[in-house]
Amino acid sequence: MTDLTVNDRPVRFEMDPQTPLLWALRDAANLTGTKYGCGVGDCGACMVLIDGAALRSCLVTLAEAEGRVVTTIEGLSRDRSHPVQQALVAEQAIQCGFCTPGIAIAAAALLARNADPSEAEIKAAIRNLCRCGVYPRLVRAIQRAGRVARRAERISAAPSPGITAEDAAAAVPALRADP
Ligand code: FES
Ligand code: FES
Repeated sequence: MTDLTVNDRPVRFEMDPQTPLLWALRDAANLTGTKYGCGVGDCGACMVLIDGAALRSCLVTLAEAEGRVVTTIEGLSRDRSHPVQQALVAEQAIQCGFCTPGIAIAAAALLARNADPSEAEIKAAIRNLCRCGVYPRLVRAIQRAGRVARRAERISAAPSPGITAEDAAAAVPALRADP
């Protein structure tokens, strides 16, 4: 058994401790926002925050995650209100969306340590692969998210999230308030 905190909730996984965290999140916790792309650490689709750092969950075992605080895209905000999520939508920096959860996690980690990143800093920090090629819009979106995080701008064009925390918890057991 492996105990960790996932999206602010204590979670116990009764799985082989060598199971990749990605499989545990997707298959056991039903947190399918975290995507399986390459499985070998190249694409970043599987990124989650572990103790605040954006890491590739396909390369982290449950044993390595023991006792740590994990945040998936579902926990970045319960209603898609995180500045990165709002800016990605407002800048239309999403095409098929497969890479988007991992990019949002990487961008959130970047903005947490640098809320005003340059284009070069964004390109250096966000190494995620996007087969649709959203890269130019991505830079604009992350810089805009930084302005929102610094309260230098509000995004009013982004659509209403359209889901409540309670609705999300109904679909994803790991997001429920009570075990
Ligand atoms: S699935 Fe983990 S880096 Fe690609
Ligand atoms: S939006 Fe399609 S892979 Fe990035």
